[in-house]
Amino acid sequence: MAQTGFVKLAQDGKARTGVITTPRGEIRTPAFMPVGTAATVKAMLPESVRATGADILLGNTYHLMLRPTAERIDRLGGLHRFMNWDRPILTDSGGFQVMSLSGLRKLTEAGVTFKSHIDGSKHMLSPERSMEIQRLLGSDIVMCFDECPALPADRDRITQSMRLSMRWAARSREAFGDRPGHMLFGIQQGGLEQDLRGESAEALKAIGFDGYAVGGLAVGEGQEAMFGCLDYAPDMLPEDKPRYLMGVGKPDDIVGAVKRGVDMMDCVLPSRSGRTGQVFTRRGVLNIKNARHQDDPRPLDEACSCPACTGYSRAYLHHVFRAQEIISSMLLTWHNLHYFQEIMAGMRAAIAEGRFDAWEAEFHATRALGDI
Ligand code: GUN
Ligand code: ZN
Repeated sequence: MAQTGFVKLAQDGKARTGVITTPRGEIRTPAFMPVGTAATVKAMLPESVRATGADILLGNTYHLMLRPTAERIDRLGGLHRFMNWDRPILTDSGGFQVMSLSGLRKLTEAGVTFKSHIDGSKHMLSPERSMEIQRLLGSDIVMCFDECPALPADRDRITQSMRLSMRWAARSREAFGDRPGHMLFGIQQGGLEQDLRGESAEALKAIGFDGYAVGGLAVGEGQEAMFGCLDYAPDMLPEDKPRYLMGVGKPDDIVGAVKRGVDMMDCVLPSRSGRTGQVFTRRGVLNIKNARHQDDPRPLDEACSCPACTGYSRAYLHHVFRAQEIISSMLLTWHNLHYFQEIMAGMRAAIAEGRFDAWEAEFHATRALGDI
């Protein structure tokens, strides 16, 4: 029997719900993956991340290769053991992070050489090296090594970059080899150009992957342009394989992506915002730093069952944020991750029962009320 797979359980419009199977556990889709860049979801214990409803975490090749290095993690038994998370982990391949984070870098057909953002030391990433690092980490879902141009970029630059990423996708597939129990995902590029997205999808399908990501979005194009692209991009990818929208997003981005046929997403937003005092609730966004919360005995969201909402007032959360107490990051991150997972669970149930449109209408209507 195959050790990995994807089963679609129901579809409502373009929205799908299903299950990805791996030897480390099942991933219910649509799935939101909390980001654990440096082998931790900041301010959260792994068991707490699980308690929010996460089936899978995201880790980063780029950060882990620099510190503590993939070889060290391998010697210590792999990333799951190292960070005490025994469920599935998806790792990004590093190409995107090199472009956004590293210092001086040089891009060639072979790969990228760059300087570490931590200590300026020199490193190299290529499709082959990225596959090796993700194997050393023990990643369950490995991403192809790709390149993602910042938008806006001219069509010529987007075309050349996409074609390079497709050549790298073929090399990634070759270097990954045959690894039962592990999945390799291709990454579609092509910016906001429909024909280039089509060319990229055809190239990836010809190579053949266990899942397909939509890359190169949420890079400053705005929600309207992103949804415009998502109106066609997921349809170009095999419908019997998981589709993953990389680096998205805000709650309304996530809902709009699922409506357009996306199965998986990741974003730092709920965890990062938890540390800056930005709180996501059914009624929109609030900032706990705001003085209007200082005497408020109510929870962040009376309908939320997370520890921050069942045990603490807005006044307390305001106080510990202002006092820069560590518990502030812990509670707000937990709440945000819990809320994001509640959105996913709500969508999965609504799709299974054929009432996604009604669920979406209620989602937007509740937000429109605003925080009071
Ligand atoms: N994260 C967000 N967008 C991208 C992308 O286009 N490629 C990769 N590898 N990671 C991403
Ligand atoms: Zn809560």
